[in-house]
Amino acid sequence: MRPLPRPGVLDIEAYVPGKSSAPGLAKVFKLSSNETPLGPSPEAIAAYKSAGERLEEYPDGSAGELREAIGRAFGLDPDRIVCGAGSDDLLHLLAYAYLVDGDEAIHTTHGFLIYPIVTLGAGAKPIVVPETNYTADVDGILAAVTKRTKLVFLANPNNPTGTYLPFDEVKRLHRGLPANVLLVLDAAYAEYVRNNDYEAGIELVATAENVVMCRTFSKIYGLAALRLGWMFGPAHIVDAVNRIRGPFNVSDGAIAAGVAAIKDVEHQERSREHNTRWLAWLTEEIGKLGLKVTPSVANFVLIHFPQAKDRTAKDADAFLTTRGLILRQTTAYKLPNALRLSVGTEEANRLVVAALKDFLAKPA
Ligand SMILES: Cc1ncc(COP(=O)(O)O)c(C=O)c1O
Repeated sequence: MRPLPRPGVLDIEAYVPGKSSAPGLAKVFKLSSNETPLGPSPEAIAAYKSAGERLEEYPDGSAGELREAIGRAFGLDPDRIVCGAGSDDLLHLLAYAYLVDGDEAIHTTHGFLIYPIVTLGAGAKPIVVPETNYTADVDGILAAVTKRTKLVFLANPNNPTGTYLPFDEVKRLHRGLPANVLLVLDAAYAEYVRNNDYEAGIELVATAENVVMCRTFSKIYGLAALRLGWMFGPAHIVDAVNRIRGPFNVSDGAIAAGVAAIKDVEHQERSREHNTRWLAWLTEEIGKLGLKVTPSVANFVLIHFPQAKDRTAKDADAFLTTRGLILRQTTAYKLPNALRLSVGTEEANRLVVAALKDFLAKPA
């Protein structure tokens, strides 16, 4: 006899983060975790450092100053915001608050890996719906809804495909869901999207009782190390999540840095400009090499490799690693013939394209 975790926990395939090193190489470009190549705002770094002067104090458990700063930046009621230790924390909390044993939670084939993890962790069953052209399929999701469905996770834009659903499609998805099903719009990459037909979820959350939107400070704000995310939801969902979250789930340094980061609009704009320019450049240049690139609106691209000998995604990954270029393998995302590349510095982007060219020119 020994303690047993709840059913489902041992079915979880543990999340494996992107690689971060290439043995034996002095200079490495980590392009495997969709981090920003521009780093955080200098104001955020300064705020984080000054938080180091009061390490003996507990943080403000309600992250009030940060919720107010987010509220001001996005025109939202701070009482409808919850902050978390990364948006991962919030995804876990939503699953624990809304799923019980035997419930079903829907996500799409190449959806973000955390969704099946939090679903199984809560004792529920992940239902995986096929995508069309690497994009979530609203009709498919709606067809998968049963009496047991309690949650639908939609990453918009999605990681690792970089594709998105226009707002009309998100609204159509919401309209088709029963009122007791919670739609979680995970908009971790929203800040990068330039398309007019995109909306992260604020409008839908504001007018519906069964939609939440999750956001992160890990991407454009460059604070991945601090673990900081937030969600905006209806009052009753905010209340439920606040009851089960850790009372001090966000650290003081993260709160301070988050407040400063969100105020530094110029830094965000620079990061967005950099991304727009290099996302287009990478898509075009890699395409010119004869590799398929899924059109992305985020800060990364999914590159598809042939299954020919010495030309596979695995071969490419090994070759790029010898040059200190670390990409993300996507086999766990059911994309064994692809690699995900985060938009990097100009230097890194140019090196990747040059390396891919050499890789493809190499005798097989
Ligand atoms: C779609 C998506 N959602 C959520 C997250 C988690 O972000 P955080 O660092 O805020 O936990 C990521 C991170 O890669 C992501 O790609």
